Amino acid sequence: MKLFAHRGVSGEAPENTLAAFKAAAESGAHGIELDVQLSKDGHIVVIHDETIDRTTNGTGYVKDMTWEQLRTYDAGSWFHSSFQGESIPSLEEVLDVVTAHHDSMIINIELKNDQIDYPQLEEKVLELLNEKGMKEQTIISSFNPESIKKVRQLDSDIETAFLFEGIPANILDRTKPLQVNALHCDASFAQSPTGRIVMDMGMPLRVFTINTMEEFQLLKKANVSVVMTDYPGLFLDHL
Ligand code: G3P
Ligand code: MG
Repeated sequence: MKLFAHRGVSGEAPENTLAAFKAAAESGAHGIELDVQLSKDGHIVVIHDETIDRTTNGTGYVKDMTWEQLRTYDAGSWFHSSFQGESIPSLEEVLDVVTAHHDSMIINIELKNDQIDYPQLEEKVLELLNEKGMKEQTIISSFNPESIKKVRQLDSDIETAFLFEGIPANILDRTKPLQVNALHCDASFAQSPTGRIVMDMGMPLRVFTINTMEEFQLLKKANVSVVMTDYPGLFLDHL
């Protein structure tokens, strides 16, 4: 079983910032998970919400601001004053920082296009990964089935995963046309009879977001492939 640092080491540093990803690269975690949205001028930025309200000192939609505007906001102080000066990073910055510290780290890019349809997000992400030669260590996931299908149409090799919550009916029938390599689910699915069947059929499960030892041990027993956590340090010695 592998560990991914969810939004970086987001339990100890502001989520989706370079500080959180540096901490992840140094933590011993096998991978990172991050969320991407598109700025008004088409830059891929790493931020969970569609707006900057919760995680910066500004307000407004990411899609309505240019990259130059977005990077002026403080994305660290909301978490702790010691992180003042952290800004919203671009995907390129995150990839560079992580690989500088740990070049074989697995990168899970979650396309946050289930609320807003960002034009060409899939193309832009694939283009950047090709440019950086990082396709082989990357997994692209999304809650949006159409987007994940599009990634597969654009690239027959890149690892993809469909994201969902709970225990949806007919999950295998629904995901078959998407041609994904794995499912990203919560603990309820991983521990359900359906979860068992899916894993027995050879479909890996990666589970979010696990922050207690009790859940971690149950998932380890269930034989899931990856646990995503805000606190990789809690579990590294228990793999
Ligand atoms: O990618 C797994 C997980 O991050 C999905 O939920 O809301 O934390 O992006 P969320
Ligand atoms: Mg996410």
